[in-house]
Amino acid sequence: MDHHATTLAPIPPEQTEPAPTAVRPRFQHQGIAFGCDYNPEQWDPAVWREDVVLMREAGVDLVAINIFGWADLQGPDGAYDFAALDEVIELLHAAGIRVNLGTGTASPPPWLTTRHPEILPVVEDGTTRFPGGRQAWCPSSPTFRRYALELVEAVAERYGGHPAVAVWHVSNELGCHNALCHCDESTRAFRRWLRERHGTIDELNRAWGTSFWSQRYTDWDEILTPKLTLSSRNPGQMLDFHRFSSDELLAHYRAEAEAIRRRSAVPVTTNFMVTAHIRNLDYWTWAADMDVVANDHYLDHRLAEPRTELAFAADLTRGLAGGDPWLLMEHSTGSVNWQPVNLAKEPGQLLRNTLAHVARGADAVCFFQWRASLQGSEKFHSALLPHAGTDSALWREVLELGRIVGALDEVAGTRVRAEVALLFSWESWWASDAETRPTHEIEYLDQVHALYGALHDLGVSVDVVRPGADLTGYRLVVVPGLYLVSDEGAAALDAAVASGTHALVTFYSGIVDEHDRVRPGGYPGAWRDLLGVRVEEFAPVLPGTPIALESGAAASLWADRLETTDAAIIDRFADGPAAGRPAVTRRDGVDGAGDAWYLGTLLEPDDLLDLVGRAVERAGAASEPGASADVEITRRTDGERTWRFVVNHGADPVELDARGTELVTGSDVDGRIVVPAGGVRVIREEAAA
Ligand code: GLA
Repeated sequence: MDHHATTLAPIPPEQTEPAPTAVRPRFQHQGIAFGCDYNPEQWDPAVWREDVVLMREAGVDLVAINIFGWADLQGPDGAYDFAALDEVIELLHAAGIRVNLGTGTASPPPWLTTRHPEILPVVEDGTTRFPGGRQAWCPSSPTFRRYALELVEAVAERYGGHPAVAVWHVSNELGCHNALCHCDESTRAFRRWLRERHGTIDELNRAWGTSFWSQRYTDWDEILTPKLTLSSRNPGQMLDFHRFSSDELLAHYRAEAEAIRRRSAVPVTTNFMVTAHIRNLDYWTWAADMDVVANDHYLDHRLAEPRTELAFAADLTRGLAGGDPWLLMEHSTGSVNWQPVNLAKEPGQLLRNTLAHVARGADAVCFFQWRASLQGSEKFHSALLPHAGTDSALWREVLELGRIVGALDEVAGTRVRAEVALLFSWESWWASDAETRPTHEIEYLDQVHALYGALHDLGVSVDVVRPGADLTGYRLVVVPGLYLVSDEGAAALDAAVASGTHALVTFYSGIVDEHDRVRPGGYPGAWRDLLGVRVEEFAPVLPGTPIALESGAAASLWADRLETTDAAIIDRFADGPAAGRPAVTRRDGVDGAGDAWYLGTLLEPDDLLDLVGRAVERAGAASEPGASADVEITRRTDGERTWRFVVNHGADPVELDARGTELVTGSDVDGRIVVPAGGVRVIREEAAA
């Protein structure tokens, strides 16, 4: 079935590049914003009035509206009815509450998908996904784009100059459900994108290695999106399809942002999903288009360490923001509704989770959503105002949280400083978790979380940065399982180590180039010289098969058959498929260069902590005294003063040296501070970090 009769019109040039950063408006707010999504469409106008009173009581000062407003704003005849939205905005404005204004395009109304079924997305088995949920639109559909932009223009025209509007919220979580579309329109757009990227069909054949399995293309029209096949699919094609799909949604963001910017001087953003369960977009390529970076984060209880992942996601969001403060656009007061078991938060966890984001650079802490829905898929998702109403422990926690966030206002605009960087890449994630690979027992993100977790538990502040970034200012750079790296990305690490930065690279790094083409001569092809090692063969083992190292350290799942060419052997495999060979190596820096560590196996957490601790110490990177897996300690600074955040997740109080003013309790600290079990303290100290 041909889903689309029309051809995608070329995107005008002004929408293909980010707007120049020099003219970008900045998000400005008095202190740390405290806010939520608000869906007044679901409520009677009498409830709106009560909502605004309660929002003020809770200290809410930034409210996201019109996220899913399309069906209420525009009917099938194309006519708009802004009466309800006008009223809500005026109510909020009169109460001094600022608006995070959605463009309303997140989900097309039924009249649109009925009139234009060709906008519906098609998944990899070639079947259509229908309306009745949300985000039922193809990112490459010119028809959807046309209708969406018409709506954006109308909304921006009407509210672009309204004093209540603090920030624009384009669509919602772009690509959450619809990122990978395989319809005929997407197929045509994919071909155009490939032509742009590779130039000639010969280049594409080279990049994808199509001499394998008789896949050579002779014409662009032979190329499809990677729909389901009988065998495994071409990895180069899969990788390019991910890149293309991310770019298509970015083009959509740019088109909406452009329509807004022509009518409004207010900053524009969209809510990223820097989180464990979604990996559809390469946010490194998106970040420059955001006037302010915003993220949604939910604890994922399918992970071993959900709160460490929260810290990682927050540090990565700060990385996307280039170190600037960012907005937490959504998180939850309690359970979500989309995990197999949706855990409620323990008493005090709401405060700990919220301030963990502020500690890592958030200047806004917002929630999904204001008032728990009575109907629809999300009726059992937590909210600031639960079904139980204001006579509830949760509401009382929300009031307390609002008070504490207000007490932290002076922290807004300050920055986090880190001496250690961790390289993270969505491209490498796409490529390394491929259909065929050495083992399916190891996932990229697990490697990232393991290395990040060790740094976290040691109390080391970490910047999460993109491969290719300038790393020379860091004392240590950690590279967990970075399977794909370009020559530029590899060279950036080489340059940093030559300048004195230490490096710790783990197995299955530097294996392929940007086309997923193996770098031959022994692994890790990109960094053999840097590390002074050469891996002849991967030797993964079955789950449940322990691997011992000579030092007594325990490992599993992976062994490299490794030899050193120019590095000291720190530890060896005592058994397993690489018995007797090096497992941990270090090439010590000479002439001012840093040390380069290599880890050729998957260490158990305690042994990994020990190894990372040694690398941190040799690099001279600071770790926070008193920090541990249970006690997060991080700092924000304005260059003169420091705010030390202590989040005690543990069951025991912790005592620390401190001098200054504690903002949560509003008390002076003169030498020692006790942070109670489950408590959070923020100490302002009159010295730079
Ligand atoms: C996302 C969406 C919200 C809501 C929440 C529920 O973050 O943006 O609309 O669905 O998930 O967790």
